[in-house]
Amino acid sequence: MNSIYMVIRMYEMSKGFERLFIMSAVRRLYFNQFIHHWGCQMTEHETAKIARSTPYAVLVEPGKPYLWCACGRSQSQPFCDGSHKGSGFTPVKFTADKEEWVWFCGCKQTGHPPRCDGSHKLIGQGQEKDR
Ligand code: FES
Repeated sequence: MNSIYMVIRMYEMSKGFERLFIMSAVRRLYFNQFIHHWGCQMTEHETAKIARSTPYAVLVEPGKPYLWCACGRSQSQPFCDGSHKGSGFTPVKFTADKEEWVWFCGCKQTGHPPRCDGSHKLIGQGQEKDR
């Protein structure tokens, strides 16, 4: 706390170029470390892994429950194998009314889980959705 107080006092007493130099040093010392630390934590816990950039077509059975993998870490895509533990994600339950082909999201960016909504088309364009 003392060092922060000293920096603030130096900033108040400085002018022009000195002020820019002090702010640059502060940014290097504190701000970048703060952003890097917290940014990494949020990325690891809140971003789903892209299992693949296209959906999975699955012929589903009526009445059978399916657990769609939301985290992207499962080795049994598009379904959950328990790999999400500790990630902050939970699988999405899906039960079909009738036998039909379902396009399960593979990129894990869909706005209508577990079905594909075309969000995979945005991958690679710097427009991945935040989840
Ligand atoms: S392994 Fe991805 S949600 Fe369970």
